[in-house]
Amino acid sequence: MVDIEGIDQNNIPNHVAIIMDGNGRWAREKGHERIFGHLNGVEAVRASLKAARKIGVKFLTLYAFSTENWNRPKEEVDALMDLLVKTIVEEVKDLHENKVKLRAIGSLDSLPEACRKELDEAVEQTKDNGEVELVLALSYSARWEIVEAIRKIAASDVKSEDIDESLVAEYLATRDLPDPELMIRTSGEQRISNFLLWQIAYSELYFTPKFWPDFREDDFYDAIRDYQRRQRRFGKTSEQVIIPEQE
Ligand code: IPE
Ligand code: IPE
Ligand code: MG
Repeated sequence: MVDIEGIDQNNIPNHVAIIMDGNGRWAREKGHERIFGHLNGVEAVRASLKAARKIGVKFLTLYAFSTENWNRPKEEVDALMDLLVKTIVEEVKDLHENKVKLRAIGSLDSLPEACRKELDEAVEQTKDNGEVELVLALSYSARWEIVEAIRKIAASDVKSEDIDESLVAEYLATRDLPDPELMIRTSGEQRISNFLLWQIAYSELYFTPKFWPDFREDDFYDAIRDYQRRQRRFGKTSEQVIIPEQE
């Protein structure tokens, strides 16, 4: 763990989720096609992963492609899928060397064959790594995930009286991930866009106007510092939270 100024090492979120937004606007501002923004977003992914590893964040979930993003123009979707394949192929060695375990959540069967293949291989290759888990949300939407969970529960022999929050969580794509303590969204939009709706019930939300391709290590640390200034109350009073002995 690296000491970063102003960051309390005893209060590092275990799981950070990021809505990587603003690639298209970043590119258009520079007079380029939207895909140029996606290409430049890869550096921000590297920077965030590096920052997460440095301070000891154990799970980093990145919203890379939503179910709704399939409705974008075909050229953009194709370019994004090509970029995904290319990035996985290029990065897998580094990920492995850095002991990163790669995973993906979402309707992965909807991905083009080549994408699915590279993704499966990278997941397989890094499956025994444990330092940090990089979770890519691909063809993911929280409502899709919840509907899938309900379908599976309905098809199982679970009795209705045995359905509780922990059982539902077991049927979600994130079943073996802790809920994110912190969710970051870039690009100035202040919405969730169908990401991890169940899991962010008590997450701290951090919005930055920066477009994703400009997001760097220091921006990640800014979000962590901001998170560390918050008081997480989970419905209790602030007095109860400050003096846990009185719980
Ligand atoms: C985020 O950037 C990347 C994906 C959704 C795949 P956008 O492509 O949404 O960029 P903006 O929000 O249009 O600027
Ligand atoms: C959310 O961004 C999805 C990803 C970052 C992958 P969008 O750009 O698709 O979200 P909206 O449409 O602005 O809400
Ligand atoms: Mg967007």
